[in-house]
Amino acid sequence: MIECIANPDKAGAGTVLNNFTLEKAEMIRNFHRSIPMYRETPLERLSAFAEKCGVKDIYVKNEARRFGLNAFKVLGGSYAVGSYIADRLGTGIAELSYEKLTAPEIKRQLGTLTFISATDGNHGRGIAWMARRLGHRAVILMPKGSTQERLENIRSEGADAWITDRNYDDTVRLANQLAEEKGYVMVQDTAWDGYERIPLWIMQGYMTMALEAWEQLGEVRPTHIFVQAGVGSMAGAVTGFFVNQYPENPPVISVVEPEQAACIYESARAGDGKPHAVKGSLSTIMAGLACGEPNTVGFQILWGCADWFFSCPDYTAAQGMRILGNPAGQDVRVTAGESGAAAFGAVSELLRNPDYREMRERLGLDGNSVLLFFNTEGDTDKERYRSIVWDGAFGRPVPEKRRQTV
Ligand SMILES: Cc1ncc(COP(=O)(O)O)c(C=O)c1O
Repeated sequence: MIECIANPDKAGAGTVLNNFTLEKAEMIRNFHRSIPMYRETPLERLSAFAEKCGVKDIYVKNEARRFGLNAFKVLGGSYAVGSYIADRLGTGIAELSYEKLTAPEIKRQLGTLTFISATDGNHGRGIAWMARRLGHRAVILMPKGSTQERLENIRSEGADAWITDRNYDDTVRLANQLAEEKGYVMVQDTAWDGYERIPLWIMQGYMTMALEAWEQLGEVRPTHIFVQAGVGSMAGAVTGFFVNQYPENPPVISVVEPEQAACIYESARAGDGKPHAVKGSLSTIMAGLACGEPNTVGFQILWGCADWFFSCPDYTAAQGMRILGNPAGQDVRVTAGESGAAAFGAVSELLRNPDYREMRERLGLDGNSVLLFFNTEGDTDKERYRSIVWDGAFGRPVPEKRRQTV
């Protein structure tokens, strides 16, 4: 069952939004553009599906094409690694292109750095990719339950990577401990009190995705933006950017999480404006969203600016993958992984299942609505992708009544 609550206290996020301005986003995009493999990812328009669902239009920014890495995450890791090196050299990142970063002179000055991170897969792959290109080292720790395929993807980028016997949040703590013991640079995609600088760079790096989408939309103003969240870094960055673009009438912003790891939803439900952790195995097919502790900076933005918080079962993400992979009419086919399809899947269920009529109305989803989604990953686990899209794994549970009559 999808659960949804309104933000009880949307009071704005204050000066933290200054980190997510158009000017900053353009500067960061220039850095990404200096990387030779940079290509803008496509914004797909799913008008046929929108018509079927009774909304005006649907757009999906497809990050499966990002840097050949099948996910958006490298945008954050690459910018944070670049900013860290710029900082060590006492220069600004605006002056330090990818070409300069790879110059032997810089390597001579800094020696070989080791970047360490904990990851469900996509972030670590991005860090490993960037570290290798700049001639540095990456050590990547993954939480228990991570798949072999995602581990191998990281190892194939030259990282020293392994799966721990801990959940995501405890794996982050282990990586942090190793960083302190061995003098590695912790490049984590979540912030906590006292560790905010690098995670803020990572969040800012994600703005390239939001900026591209905003430019690709042109004159079209999205009325509703749905963003999936693990720790809420990506959701916070997208929210910060779009709120800054439409300060007078921002789109309705919704944060979507798996029910087993809904730390932003639970924090919003607590209603005291503070991030709260959820504990346990955090077991969900949405591996990228299996995080129990919100990013403090991300949460500040979401608490201040987001409108709705969703907690969703796994089958909605699986449904999103199937719909995106089997489009209506002339719509383009989008290959989406479990985390990538999370928000789209939840909303497709809201729009198509009559049981959610009231929720749909509360969100103001109607024939005037223009919806924007971010498919943040492609089929990063191909075996799981096929089991869901080909074999129908994680289907919508059959209602009790219907089951009895079969
Ligand atoms: C594919 C994908 N989408 C979304 C997210 C969520 O990002 P965040 O943890 O910043 O909320 C992740 C995180 O790893 C991810 O891998």
